[in-house]
Amino acid sequence: MRTTDLTTWHPASWQAKTAQQQPRYPDASALERAIAELSRLPPIVVSWEVDALRERLAAAQRGEAFLLQGGDCAETFEGCESDKIAKQLKILLQMSLVLLHGLKKPVIRVGRMAGQYAKPRSADTETRDGVTLPSYRGDLVNHPEFTAEARTPDPTLLLRGYERAALTLNFTRALVAGGFADLHHPEYWDLGFVHHSPLKDAFERIATSIADSLDFLEGMSGRRVHEATHAGFFASHEGLVLHYEQAQARFIPRQNRWYDLSTHMPWIGMRTAQLDGAHIEFFRGIANPVGVKIGAAMDDEWLQGLVATLNPQNVPGRLALIHRFGAKEIERALPRMINAVRETGHSVLWICDPMHGNTETSTGGLKTRRFDNILKEIDLAFRIHRDLGSVLGGVHIELTGEDVTECTGGARGLSDADLQRAYRSTVDPRLNYEQSLELALLIAERAHARRA
Ligand code: PEP
Ligand code: CO
Repeated sequence: MRTTDLTTWHPASWQAKTAQQQPRYPDASALERAIAELSRLPPIVVSWEVDALRERLAAAQRGEAFLLQGGDCAETFEGCESDKIAKQLKILLQMSLVLLHGLKKPVIRVGRMAGQYAKPRSADTETRDGVTLPSYRGDLVNHPEFTAEARTPDPTLLLRGYERAALTLNFTRALVAGGFADLHHPEYWDLGFVHHSPLKDAFERIATSIADSLDFLEGMSGRRVHEATHAGFFASHEGLVLHYEQAQARFIPRQNRWYDLSTHMPWIGMRTAQLDGAHIEFFRGIANPVGVKIGAAMDDEWLQGLVATLNPQNVPGRLALIHRFGAKEIERALPRMINAVRETGHSVLWICDPMHGNTETSTGGLKTRRFDNILKEIDLAFRIHRDLGSVLGGVHIELTGEDVTECTGGARGLSDADLQRAYRSTVDPRLNYEQSLELALLIAERAHARRA
């Protein structure tokens, strides 16, 4: 596979293009030093894992597997703690088990984790009381406090981010390899505070049924069902800060191609997906599976350009289009886009992000999302793809394993007034533990009903 014309692409070729959403580092030599150091440190992931994920995403693209991609809108350096990481892994594992049971296909688990430290912002600067400073762009770039010192982009944070990403993935890998992700033992994934939840019973029924089926199969065959039960875990983040990604691009001679080894599956955000922009230039040159967030404002030409530029060889599993229209817009926008991609003759992996098109402001002024709109967008996505003979291969969700109150609705019927209680996100509102599990249960239930 060659994804790139190596005569014109190199890891810094993006620098000749217009790069949106980049920090302005005041000290160019400090930036050079940070990039040089990052370039010689070992990679966070390795190329064969990236290739393995691409193969699995190719299966999702064909409808033979399903991708569950989820995590915080933004990770913080402070949030790099064992308890938080374990909870995040647990909710993703629980959801994947429920989806496996309902969809009857392998679930590929990809965290928005271990590198999700940078955010696009609607404005480059923020003004308070007549003072204008650079916007906070995430812990990879600067600090949230409103002082000139905190807000000045600091290139050494690229190194701190790399280290936190490595710590997060190291712990996650150890848990997964140690049997934590083993479907024989879903009891490891219990999140203490939901003992009284009715969802817990539904989850336990599914978990027991899967563990029983496995025991039965293994009893019959005399062998462990290893592949399905020990399914791995992959990392992803928005590839926003291009110096960070560039410094972790590595040429793998055996494969004769470049990889971005900062993560398994980077994605390009809505605000940085311009065809002639720096992000598309960087990501066209690497062999990782790459996602692009797409919205209703993208015309057919733009979409077809993304497909042609990012996956000229039509490699299965290489390009994921993550659509985020909102429950109100999806019926208008998605059919056109499915047809536009079809005209290219290329295949993509379609993923539904039901979060970013459904953001609204609560009566109390907080950024929130309604559970019903999230569910509705997923329902419509399944239906529209099916009606058009296309495949919805996965979902992309902002969630947390913690008991926060950031999105309204769900089985507990969280209201606008409840949001004050435990609103912790400084960026987008996440589904909390119960809402995430409920969403997985409802997706599974509907899939079951469709088959019946
Ligand atoms: C995000 O995923 O947090 C994000 C900013 O999404 P989008 O690029 O789709 O707006
Ligand atoms: Co977000």
